[in-house]
Amino acid sequence: MITVILGCQWGDEGKGKIVDYLAGKADLVIRAQGGANAGHTVVIEGKKYIFHLIPSGILNLKTISIIGNGVVIDPETLLEEINLLKKLGFDPAGRLFISNRAHLVMPYHKMIDQSKEKNSKGKIGTTGRGIGPAYMDKICRTGIRAAEFLNPDGLLKKIRANIEFANQLLKKIYNEDELDAEKVAADYLNYQKEISPFIADTGAMANRAVKEKKEILLEGAQGAMLDIDLGTYPYVTSSNTTAGGAVTGSGIGPKSIDKILGVVKAYTTRVGEGPFPTELEGEEAEKLRKKGDEFGATTGRPRRCGWFDSVVSRYACEMSGVDELIITKLDVLDELAVIKICTGYNYKGEKLEFFPADIDILKNVEPIYEEFSGWQTDTTGVREFAALPEAAKKYLNRLEELSGARVKYISVGPDRSQTIIK
Ligand code: GDP
Ligand code: IMO
Ligand code: MG
Repeated sequence: MITVILGCQWGDEGKGKIVDYLAGKADLVIRAQGGANAGHTVVIEGKKYIFHLIPSGILNLKTISIIGNGVVIDPETLLEEINLLKKLGFDPAGRLFISNRAHLVMPYHKMIDQSKEKNSKGKIGTTGRGIGPAYMDKICRTGIRAAEFLNPDGLLKKIRANIEFANQLLKKIYNEDELDAEKVAADYLNYQKEISPFIADTGAMANRAVKEKKEILLEGAQGAMLDIDLGTYPYVTSSNTTAGGAVTGSGIGPKSIDKILGVVKAYTTRVGEGPFPTELEGEEAEKLRKKGDEFGATTGRPRRCGWFDSVVSRYACEMSGVDELIITKLDVLDELAVIKICTGYNYKGEKLEFFPADIDILKNVEPIYEEFSGWQTDTTGVREFAALPEAAKKYLNRLEELSGARVKYISVGPDRSQTIIK
């Protein structure tokens, strides 16, 4: 069985928790896109782990973890994660494999990303992890891939050539200091020694597992609205976060996918710039942020908070062909007296029929809300759907109806155990 798990809002939906929960029964967990911009949190018996590059299934010792060809890998972050896992008693050696086709994030990618954000008027609010520039080099066919780690002479040649070009950009366009090519080359030779043993043809590995009918999870990063093609462009990330990205970024063919699970919070959050129609301000936003601990797992930035937007979830479910929904953070709404769901957008007095592509329209839509009474009961200890308060069931049922996909799991707390199967 091959299952894809995707964020269906603007990221941080709780994918890490769900992947860890489902990985207990998986043979293989594969990350297929994004990079260290992701921050996936797993909580087991109160202990918190945050993963940026390594799949969230890694704490299950029997599960193989793969960083697929569609991911852009910052070797510095990867080694930090590997070393931390070793220290915590989860040595990934023999359980973690990195695609030889995955592109490497280089220091100039991070410098250009950060410099652009600092200086440009149209800032995106990126994570500063070099994601956009790394994917630019990939698409431009000037990137450096993990396979180069197996050929140190070729690696050095490419690093020197790329830095010669990057230094022109850094100096002339971005007004930044130049990089010392020999220092970067020495750093990457050090990374090379530690990372080489993990490099493999992971597409071939994955397809072998498909033939052997193994349980495979494909772990999405970010969320549908951050998709480079289908999201709220230009306020998006630089990869395909919808179902297609799981296919091209893992090497598994689309016909092999059995199920697509979409993860949404019971409300909405967003980090960084860009339109967010159901965003709340002031005290109401602060309540959600505080109760939901809504601070970025990668950058620590406070997340913008708002009501559940079913225009977004319906669009995301359609674009990825979501079979089942996973609703997380239901408990964050526990204390509220009134809860709202956005059911549509008005623009210039008329209801929109489609999710708008034009960012200027999205910036100016007015959400249409349906109001629900809160349940004002603690749900964090509930483990059966039947035991949820009636008002919570009503809310979930409506959310399911509006999104167009069945709800399968409900999460009522960060811990692995705080999960309800419907
Ligand atoms: P991801 O990027 O989709 O993996 O999500 P993040 O890890 O960035 O953010 C989700 C946050 O919510 C993390 O701090 C999780 O520990 C936490 N979380 C996940 N599910 C629940 C839940 O059901 N209730 C609460 N209160 N917190 C949750
Ligand atoms: P996970 O996997 C939430 C956002 C950034 C910014 C935009 C572009 O944890 O859900 P980038 O650094 O990718 O060029 O930034 O995308 N962003 C995320 N927001 N969760 C994420 O990942 C994100 N990864 C990128 O805040 O708005
Ligand atoms: Mg996150």
